[in-house]
Amino acid sequence: MKTKPVNLTEALASFDAVYSPRIVARMNDYDVRIAHTRGEHVWHVHDDTDEFFLVLDGRFDIAIRDAAGGAITVVLHKGDTFVVPKGTEHKPSSPGGSILMFEPSGTLTTGDRHQGEIPYSVDSTTGHEIM
Ligand code: NI
Repeated sequence: MKTKPVNLTEALASFDAVYSPRIVARMNDYDVRIAHTRGEHVWHVHDDTDEFFLVLDGRFDIAIRDAAGGAITVVLHKGDTFVVPKGTEHKPSSPGGSILMFEPSGTLTTGDRHQGEIPYSVDSTTGHEIM
């Protein structure tokens, strides 16, 4: 058992990479992850899991594909939470910020499927250990 708390402000200050989540906690089969956000992510889908977001700082937008094939963008500011339902195509973007995510361990940042090239600034990962 760990007896040292993880401070989110310190954890965020310990790395610079954007869209490269760090795992700050695990509970049951879930990860709590944090990430810096800036620029465009990639359209992707998680077939089997919802994805929870909490904006810690800045702004974070999530474009969501609707049934008609169009997209609506959910704009999130500091303190806002949002859940992308499983099977929903989505593409995050951000002018700059940081987020906390809650999702099953092993969930890939770029989903089970993605559309087009993964941008250079997006890390396709199941999360990294916090140092
Ligand atoms: Ni996702």
